[in-house]
Amino acid sequence: MIEVLFSALWLMLPAYVANPMAVVFGGGRPIDLGRNFLDGRRLLGDGKTYRGLLGGLVCGVFIGFVQMNTLLSYYLGAHTLSVVCTLSIGALMGDLFESFIKRRLGLQRGAELPLADQLDFVAGAFLLTYLLDPLWFTANFTPVKLLIVLVTTPILHRITNIIGYRMKLKKEPW
Ligand code: CTP
Ligand code: MG
Repeated sequence: MIEVLFSALWLMLPAYVANPMAVVFGGGRPIDLGRNFLDGRRLLGDGKTYRGLLGGLVCGVFIGFVQMNTLLSYYLGAHTLSVVCTLSIGALMGDLFESFIKRRLGLQRGAELPLADQLDFVAGAFLLTYLLDPLWFTANFTPVKLLIVLVTTPILHRITNIIGYRMKLKKEPW
């Protein structure tokens, strides 16, 4: 049973790395360049930057590439380069999409949106990977593993964000 848990986390690792690394490398020019949407509110907000996007992407793909070349991939699950990319890009896109929705709801940058804050990047990673490689997705992310990811991610997310907050990387502990 424990190997199913490890396998689920292993498969998700590129997304688990891309998302917090966007926080580590974030800052500078916002992706929306400060522009507003039709509702007069920011398109994405100052919390979504080019540096964060690039830093997250490079780190997610890097870790996935390392995983592909270790023996553990034989036991826990083998990524393809395309899957490593869709997991990383999907995670970052999911996070952007959530910020877009938050701004439409009138929430300021950094405002909390429970559950969406924790699962936005998982939804993005799953969706993009499923769309580009449904065979790999269904063969590797079995229903049990999907459930494990959905249940453990909010817990892992909470822990990393409290650490990030204490390290002064994040302004809010969520
Ligand atoms: N970050 C970034 N670029 C990204 C994602 C994150 O620069 N693409 C950085 C920003 O410094 C951001 C921090 O990581 O403030 C935390 O990310 P997140 O919690 O997703 O953003 P919030 O600031 O909470 O903004 P939002 O309300 O839009 O979620
Ligand atoms: Mg946030």
